[in-house]
Amino acid sequence: MISDKMIAAINEQINKEIFSEYMYISMQAWLADQNLDGMANWMDAQAQEEHFHAMKFFNYLIERGAKVKLQAIAAPPVEFKSALKVFQESLDHEKFVSKSINELMDLAIEEKDHATKSFLQWFIDEQVEEEASVDRVVNMLKMVGENGHGLMMIDRELAQRVFDPANEA
Ligand code: FEO
Repeated sequence: MISDKMIAAINEQINKEIFSEYMYISMQAWLADQNLDGMANWMDAQAQEEHFHAMKFFNYLIERGAKVKLQAIAAPPVEFKSALKVFQESLDHEKFVSKSINELMDLAIEEKDHATKSFLQWFIDEQVEEEASVDRVVNMLKMVGENGHGLMMIDRELAQRVFDPANEA
């Protein structure tokens, strides 16, 4: 049996994941506007990953016979000062999401909800990867600073990212 409190908390998490998708496509738009198409591609893949996360929670609720209640999505930030600031904001956001997943796990432990604990373990591991992959880009951007050639090199590398749901299972 999944508790009403747990169902409400997972519904909140769906909103956070959809907001993440929304925020990343907003960052994608800003980066594309700066002609940083590789970085924009990276954000596109990131947004697709967030949609996948949201639907994983969505499908879990349905599987448990619980109601999905979608909520309003907050407006994402639309203006950024630099590519570095974009990725720093993403890193802060991923840390916020990790905290939120940890709180879900705390609740599942408190409620002795073993099925939800098992389900959430995937997200605990995923967040380690999520933070590491954004942190890597932040560090690369810090290293090149204002160097245009360096930025171009990073942009070219980030153009390679592809989201493949088959790798997420
Ligand atoms: Fe769904 Fe990037 O956390």
